[in-house]
Amino acid sequence: MNRFRSTTGPGETVRWHVQPDVDTLAATVCSRILHESGQAIAARGVFRFVLAGGSTPQAVYRRLADAGADWSRWQIYFGDERCLPADDAERNSVMAFRSWLAGSAVPAGNIHVIPAEQGAASAARQYAAIVDAARPFDLVLLGMGEDGHTASLFPGQAHDTSESVHAVHDAPKPPADRVSLGEHALNDARSVLVLVTGQTKHAALERWKQGEELPVARIHGQAGTDVYLDRSADNGLTAGVA
Ligand code: 6PG
Repeated sequence: MNRFRSTTGPGETVRWHVQPDVDTLAATVCSRILHESGQAIAARGVFRFVLAGGSTPQAVYRRLADAGADWSRWQIYFGDERCLPADDAERNSVMAFRSWLAGSAVPAGNIHVIPAEQGAASAARQYAAIVDAARPFDLVLLGMGEDGHTASLFPGQAHDTSESVHAVHDAPKPPADRVSLGEHALNDARSVLVLVTGQTKHAALERWKQGEELPVARIHGQAGTDVYLDRSADNGLTAGVA
């Protein structure tokens, strides 16, 4: 595993963890999540965890489904959601339930789904109250798109930074209407993990490493950011780094 430490400012240290393949990455990230949960529960009696959407985290969620933890202490939130019917297979919440939460011992009342089926504006208002009551988060899990977006924060889209949660319209990744935690809410976290796999993500990773202010590059936990990437996405970006 290579580690490349690039520091762009206090609390903005980015640590790059190259994993040989997706299975190893999923196992490594699952272990890290369980470690973070143990630390949080020991310190504060609760683990406040923001889930990533998309397809990359599914392998991690499936491993969590087989793991042991003090699930009653877990509080689950979502980093973003697509404005689709609540049971639509393309929903991030449906993906998380099918790969992990449906069979888990996490109490249903601890799983805070974004009501995106009610429309972006209404759902963002409702979810902001939940997010503001929960912050700071212990762990935020994120993915990254080929354009460097994360959650539903897309390049070239401006948002009211006073909002914890944004209503997103005209998203370039369907569906156009979404709900997303904003930059400040995502940064209000002890740890941030970004999962990036596959060669299609290499170009955005290169832009990130070159210092481009991509949406994903603006998200930093209090302890910096840990990027877990597989060799396909890395493709030599961190090879040979001390
Ligand atoms: C979504 C996600 C989005 C995702 C990236 C990566 O709603 O699609 O929130 O931010 O994490 O687009 O998606 P993949 O993991 O499918 O590549």
